[in-house]
Amino acid sequence: MPALDDTSCRPLNASEFEKIRRLAYDTFGLDLRTGKETLVSTRLGKHMRQSGCRSFDEYYQFVVGDSTGKSLINLIDALTTNHTSFFREPAHFDFMRKVLLPEWKNRGKIDIWSAACSSGEEPYTIAMCLLEELGTIAPGKVRILATDISTKVLAKAGQGTYPAERLEGIPDSQLRKYWLRGEGEWAGWYRAKKDMRALMEFRRVNLLEPVSQMGRFALIFCRNVMIYFDKPTQQQVVKRLGDCLEPGGYLLTGHAESLTGISHGLEYVQPAVYRKGSSGGREKG
Ligand SMILES: C[S@@+](CC[C@H](N)C(=O)[O-])C[C@H]1O[C@@H](n2cnc3c(N)ncnc32)[C@H](O)[C@@H]1O
Repeated sequence: MPALDDTSCRPLNASEFEKIRRLAYDTFGLDLRTGKETLVSTRLGKHMRQSGCRSFDEYYQFVVGDSTGKSLINLIDALTTNHTSFFREPAHFDFMRKVLLPEWKNRGKIDIWSAACSSGEEPYTIAMCLLEELGTIAPGKVRILATDISTKVLAKAGQGTYPAERLEGIPDSQLRKYWLRGEGEWAGWYRAKKDMRALMEFRRVNLLEPVSQMGRFALIFCRNVMIYFDKPTQQQVVKRLGDCLEPGGYLLTGHAESLTGISHGLEYVQPAVYRKGSSGGREKG
């Protein structure tokens, strides 16, 4: 077998970087700037070796030619972070409890979308807030659509099983109500109870692709993913999400993600909270 070249320990050259940069930008919107060559080669080096490729050019061809899409998911996972946690950015959950849930008590149906949900901590936190405030939820009243581009993290989200240390931010009373403590070989793990899992639907969705078939939502969480996109892509994504909001619906972004400079047609409510006008018409951004 020919020896590996030294690709694994050198940054990508300009043409290799350009190919990876273009692929990441076109497929999932990642805005990789010049200067990130070392970071990209470090992050992709392991996948390149695991795929048996001897150069980044070979690895690029391998990813593009993989019709299962698995190599592309590995590349996305390597270049972005799936970091998330229960009750992350708690101001949003306070807003849900104080403002939205009282309004929603007498609603027929509540549709919520956790876009870019990673391994599921965000949609399960949403579910716990709903269950806490609304009590028992009639079948079909609530739908929490949890989506991500990465099938790897989505599989974790769908299982709803987490090591105990991941659940440390959850108040004890909610842990007992909504989580099953594992025993035997599952000691040290928790699984979301059936009632909570029944509220969820998991789907792979790339935010760069049309999302209009997703339905209309009273609330969309799209947090900590737009940081990867450049302004034109953010603009496109926010426009698509806005179109998926029902009149009066809310869009929540990460607190580090400003919509400044983006024409979005939504009203600013408070940091990282935006609302679509009740008429549903497009207002000045
Ligand atoms: C940092 S996590 C955010 C998780 C969660 N929303 C939160 O704030 O804790 C970012 C997620 O965005 C996903 N992602 C990256 N590009 C995407 C795209 N084009 N469409 C959908 N999801 C994407 C990644 O797979 C990753 O799971």
